[in-house]
Amino acid sequence: MKYREFGKTSLKISEVGFGAWAIGGPAMAGDIPIGWEDVDDRTSIAALKKAFYHGVNFFDTADFYGFGHSEELIGNLWGNRNDIIVATKVGQRMDANNNIYPDYSKKYVVKACEASLKRLKREAIDFYQLHTAKLDHLENGECIEAMDLLQQQGKIRYWGVSLNTYDPEPEADYMLSNNLGHGFQLVLNIINQKAMPLLKKASTKGMGIIARMPFQFGLLTGKFNKDSKFAKTDHRSFRLTPEILEHSLKDLEPVWSLAEKCGIDMDCFALSFVLSHPEVSTVIPGIKTPDQAMVNTKTICELSASDSEQLYKLNKNRFEKLLQFIKENG
Ligand SMILES: NC(=O)c1ccc[n+]([C@@H]2O[C@H](COP(=O)([O-])OP(=O)(O)OC[C@H]3O[C@@H](n4cnc5c(N)ncnc54)[C@H](OP(=O)(O)O)[C@@H]3O)[C@@H](O)[C@H]2O)c1
Repeated sequence: MKYREFGKTSLKISEVGFGAWAIGGPAMAGDIPIGWEDVDDRTSIAALKKAFYHGVNFFDTADFYGFGHSEELIGNLWGNRNDIIVATKVGQRMDANNNIYPDYSKKYVVKACEASLKRLKREAIDFYQLHTAKLDHLENGECIEAMDLLQQQGKIRYWGVSLNTYDPEPEADYMLSNNLGHGFQLVLNIINQKAMPLLKKASTKGMGIIARMPFQFGLLTGKFNKDSKFAKTDHRSFRLTPEILEHSLKDLEPVWSLAEKCGIDMDCFALSFVLSHPEVSTVIPGIKTPDQAMVNTKTICELSASDSEQLYKLNKNRFEKLLQFIKENG
């Protein structure tokens, strides 16, 4: 495992981190799945341990993943160990009718932080993220006051924003132009390169960068076919519909060929593409099993300049359109 600086912070984090959304297990907002299919805690714990064994020291979770269950698993296993770096998130809530709503008020952020610390069994959260806060939340300023306060109180070490999947720039630009925070979480993968223009800007300003969804929910590992089905509790049941799968798999054919030509498995190829960007501090594949922990931490390959160039070209020529289709239909 190699380690990279997290921007200008003192954190040195594994270039492959652990995305801990799925180990939170199924969660529903009314009849909309906001989690993954059933998971077994013993398997999840074994996956966390295996990832650590293979050098992973960075774990990304959220208070909303399994409504706190993902944080609890991490807290029960690692507690306040200082060789484990934990990033979590705040700002998504559920009302009495099971509808999700954002809350970035100072009062709520401060209170939610206490609850996360309890579940994580930590004295401080290493990196605290506003969970896809929008520009108006940042402009309102309460969440920024809350982060400053929590940092002064030693409850969080650093903070930032987990940026929107399809349009990350407005919030990122606001943070950068006002010199706020210490890092971003953003989506970067072979078919979603919307955050690409941000990488240089953000790293020049000393921001750490966490790249999420390297597999587009498993699609980019090449393991699905057009008939793949997901449990009703798995958010992929509406995000990777048969129509989206069919369309995507067809468009992705040149990517499979490119990985094959390089002699690299698709999962490794997808992670290597993300890590070929030196601005990225860590890539965080979602990991559910010890086997995935092992596979996702195996040696990352160096992509040649011409392979990367082909992936950028494919993005321009076909995946931008594909992503729009996924956004509109998923
Ligand atoms: N708004 C936000 O802040 C936000 C949003 C999304 C994600 N995130 C963070 O980013 C992390 C990663 O994103 P993600 O989990 O949504 O998507 P992802 O990393 O693109 O996909 C993860 C899924 O792919 C499958 N998988 C993992 N390794 C594999 C391998 N080697 N071979 C085959 N399949 C494999 C697993 O599901 P199966 O085995 O069931 O197929 C896993 O749950 C999350 O866990 C979370 O920490 C944050």
